[in-house]
Amino acid sequence: MFQFRKVCFVVGIISLMMIQSSCAQKKDITVSKNKESKVESFLSQMTLEEKVGQMNQYNGFWDATGPAPSGGDSKMKYDHLKSGKVGAVLNVAGAENVRKLQETVVNESRLGIPLLFGFDVIHGHKTLSPIPLAEAASWDLEAIEKSARVAAIEASARGINWTFAPMVDISRDARWGRVMEGAGEDTYLGSQVAVARVRGFQGDDLSDDNTIAACAKHFAGYGFAESGKDYNTAEVSLTTLYNVILPPFKACVDAGICTVMNSFNSLNGIPATGDKFLQRDILKDKWGFEGFVISDWGSTMEMIDHRYAKDKRDAAIIAANAGSDMDMESYAYVNYLAEAVRKGYVQMEYIDDAVRRILKIKEDLGLFDDPYKYCSSKKESTLIYHTDHKAAARDMAKKSIVLLKNEDKALPLSTSQKGLAVIGDLAADKNGPLGNWRIGSEDNSAVSFLEALDAEGVNYKYAVGTEVSVGKEEFIRELEINNSDESQFQEAINLAKTSEKVIMVLGEHGYHSGEGRSRANIGLPGNQQELLEAVYAVNKNIVLVVMTGRPLALTWADSNIPSIVNAWQLGSEAGHAIVDVLYGKYNPSGKLPMSFPRSVGQVPVYYNHMSTGRPGPKDLVFWSHYTDETNDPLYAFGHGLSYSTFDYSDVTVMNSYSVDKTVKVSATITNTSDTKGKEVAQLYMQDVFASVTRPVRELKGFQLVELAAGESKTIEITLSEDELGFYNNEGNYIVESGDFLIYVGGSSVGGIEKKFTIN
Ligand code: NOJ
Repeated sequence: MFQFRKVCFVVGIISLMMIQSSCAQKKDITVSKNKESKVESFLSQMTLEEKVGQMNQYNGFWDATGPAPSGGDSKMKYDHLKSGKVGAVLNVAGAENVRKLQETVVNESRLGIPLLFGFDVIHGHKTLSPIPLAEAASWDLEAIEKSARVAAIEASARGINWTFAPMVDISRDARWGRVMEGAGEDTYLGSQVAVARVRGFQGDDLSDDNTIAACAKHFAGYGFAESGKDYNTAEVSLTTLYNVILPPFKACVDAGICTVMNSFNSLNGIPATGDKFLQRDILKDKWGFEGFVISDWGSTMEMIDHRYAKDKRDAAIIAANAGSDMDMESYAYVNYLAEAVRKGYVQMEYIDDAVRRILKIKEDLGLFDDPYKYCSSKKESTLIYHTDHKAAARDMAKKSIVLLKNEDKALPLSTSQKGLAVIGDLAADKNGPLGNWRIGSEDNSAVSFLEALDAEGVNYKYAVGTEVSVGKEEFIRELEINNSDESQFQEAINLAKTSEKVIMVLGEHGYHSGEGRSRANIGLPGNQQELLEAVYAVNKNIVLVVMTGRPLALTWADSNIPSIVNAWQLGSEAGHAIVDVLYGKYNPSGKLPMSFPRSVGQVPVYYNHMSTGRPGPKDLVFWSHYTDETNDPLYAFGHGLSYSTFDYSDVTVMNSYSVDKTVKVSATITNTSDTKGKEVAQLYMQDVFASVTRPVRELKGFQLVELAAGESKTIEITLSEDELGFYNNEGNYIVESGDFLIYVGGSSVGGIEKKFTIN
């Protein structure tokens, strides 16, 4: 049947710049508005070398915080500090260390411009919250904001005034190790979570001594690394770039984020660090970003390896012209940029603009008024590992857990359960649950599952079964996995044989995921699958607790094990949170922020894929499918069970688009069980027919609904233009007329369907 091309409404002026994010109003990050800005005054006094110095960031200065170093790299960095050639450092922490370094630059450099102290405060600093992917599974924006707030309080008490978080890279590839650091596969959820984190880190007033500058990273496309291999090439379509990758960054900019980090990858042929289209045209010009762009570690010089820059001088010129304002550890700007400006390869205006942006953040942080404001040892000793922070971490952790399967209501357990066995290396592990990004915290500082059982007074017998990893557990090195040693299997099998119930704690150590830790096989690592099957052969009464930094392919477990709990890497209070859920002290409410595949061959598997020209199923083979696997994931985006059951009814659509450009959807949710519980009610939308192919459905709203046993509540979600439209391939945001379907339910599968039309 012939259909006319739909009418489209271009929202506002036709550019990305004008599109308001659904998440946040622009917040003025200027706190020194009423005072005379020192930025211009500094700028007018600076030599070209000093300006370039502000654009230079060095790693670590441990030696320089003691007596002046006498040689090597440290001596060079120390000399550069004193000659005003450093604007920021990273990986220096501790109130006294920071104070000493700040004193060096304030007292000994000509202009005494204070340093920024950056650090990867990703999911906590000392007290660790769950990994970011796990936090996203809570869908609880308030708790996520609080978690970032706690992180900022602890970090700022240790001299840190800038975190390299949140990571807002959308990723659909569970092989990519860094999915642990993001909010999963969905742009809408990812944007909301990103804004909550920015608010948590930056607070209401950046000049407070417990708020720190945040950094949205990695701009852009890093989460689309080809074949899930870290640092790999990203090739994405315009529709994916505009609709999937960029919106969380835009949401952060609208929320007043101070900095943005570019990325290691090349995107459609251009290394992101040298990409003017991304950094100048979109981020700064169209979105009006007022903060500064930091390179990723060494990403300026890595343009040489990309074979995009001839040498470091060339790399410095390309990056500066493209709008990368600060160079992290490439030594490219500090060595070559001043000369490049003198020779006319980089305009002076670009340098002034970058320095202005950097100084502005320093001013907003209050460093010009007091360079030592984050350097109180007293605060440091009272605030880190504060009991309130531990309580917040435990609260966040229990909210992050996802109950994947619970056949015959095997969970919750009773603390008086007789004959309980616990099997698995990770049950006793105090290190793995801390996750990958915990450089500020102490090793082995998590509450293990066994410790938490002990604290609860639960009687159990324990067998390790198999060691997950052998050798050193280090952030910078590959974790050596135990693939072959089965010498401890028998003890576990014997224990299981004589037990009534077995809790198996299996999965990934924190160092199985994260940067540089992509995996081609995403089952249980090492020989844990063999252990699981061997135990199952003698006792089927198993509760499987999975620790992981990514979606794992748990197909065998799903077919055989009655109850499965996804416990991610939950941070400092991990054990307590798992016990809270297993024993019903907390009724699980988490929902997956990323699809769990059936097998790695399905990856990338994600709920909001496009329609193909060959949907199915069909009798003949000619439709888009596999011959040896179904198309659907094992556990879909948004999936997560509770000890309660919920029913959805009375979904109604109030279409007032022609009046106020909104469509309001209401739904009634009933707790049909006798247990109080919390449900994440989700609203998905399909634009039925559009001028650019659109996903089969997309998340457009959600609400956390707490319901007593038998209680019903009616919720309302408003779809505004921010939800109703999309970016076309020119980067213009449009709302097109025509039919839309919505689905309201407890996951991305099914739901109550309704239709509305925009004329
Ligand atoms: C490289 C990582 O990609 C980035 O996320 C991190 O912030 C920097 N290293 C600094 O540690």
